[in-house]
Amino acid sequence: TRRAVIRGTGRYLPERVVENAWFEDKVDTSDEWIRSRTGIERRHFAAEGETTSAMAIRAAEQAMSRAGLSVDQIDAVIVATSTPDLTFPSVATMVQSGLGLTRAFAFDVQAVCAGFVFALANADAMIRAGQADRVLVIGAETFSRILDWSDRGTCVLFGDGAGAVVLEAAEGARGILSSDLNSDGSFRDILYVDGGVSTTGSAGKLRMQGNVLFRHAVEKLAQTAHRAIEKAGLTTADVDWLVPHQANARIITATAQRMSLPMEKVVLTVADHGNTSAASIPLALSVADEAGRFSEGDVIVTEAIGGGLSWGSVVVRW
Ligand code: ACO
Repeated sequence: TRRAVIRGTGRYLPERVVENAWFEDKVDTSDEWIRSRTGIERRHFAAEGETTSAMAIRAAEQAMSRAGLSVDQIDAVIVATSTPDLTFPSVATMVQSGLGLTRAFAFDVQAVCAGFVFALANADAMIRAGQADRVLVIGAETFSRILDWSDRGTCVLFGDGAGAVVLEAAEGARGILSSDLNSDGSFRDILYVDGGVSTTGSAGKLRMQGNVLFRHAVEKLAQTAHRAIEKAGLTTADVDWLVPHQANARIITATAQRMSLPMEKVVLTVADHGNTSAASIPLALSVADEAGRFSEGDVIVTEAIGGGLSWGSVVVRW
């Protein structure tokens, strides 16, 4: 069977690290509250002028070098982001030119925190259909630009960064095994940005009903992961690693519990990265890959939920 195999991973995090205590004199919060309610200890924020595309390019370069591929071998670039540099063109075309690629086609996917899972599923479909042999899939975000710094319920949760994977078509047992994608637009008021091109004409700020989203997340993430695992012809007993979207350690723990997975099988980066939306899964994949945690043949389950609501899961054999 022709499958999309992960050949390399890469990441980029902005230099500036902001500890929880930094928020204490800005809003009514504490390091203790943030740690105990979210598991977040610190996050990276982009420097002034540092863009989503610039971070995406750095992550892509690292993934390409770890894959041992040259840029002229890439057929397509897909960037998952909700915080693009400009309304258009896409961040993906900026990455394409930044890497010196001229042949590949490039486009963005917008499914907020589920964006990387949606992009990965689309890249897999294109590879299996024979439309591309090698695809660069990136999640990159600068959520610091859409945060309301007076809202303690949201501004402490997010961070900036980019992660990337290089997929290559290959015959065999390795590669993406299945995916499960879902959306329900009737939940739009739970998590949204209150601006945009056809409404206010400005970028807007993030608005969230955190506790409502929390309940949806715990229920829907375990469901979509179970469906993806079943589509792959596997059971949770076959799962070696859960690489979840990193929004909140309590959501991750509750999801792992519902899947009967011990926390030793869960990759956790939320303490150091915060919620980086579409970048969080490729960042976590890159951290775990670089640490040598994955072995060939390992079954890895990714899952994410975000604004829309949109949620989904992709199962990969490493
Ligand atoms: N510091 C101190 N107190 C706070 C803070 C803060 N930073 N933020 C909220 N509170 C207060 C609230 O005002 C509230 O006070 P009140 O009871 O006096 O009204 C109290 O804490 C409890 O608020 P809840 O929202 O019920 O707290 P909860 O335990 O649910 O935790 C949190 C809030 C962490 C936001 C949680 O709901 C959560 O993680 N939700 C999911 C968020 C998420 O994953 N978002 C991203 C999705 S992905 C994407 O697409 C971006």
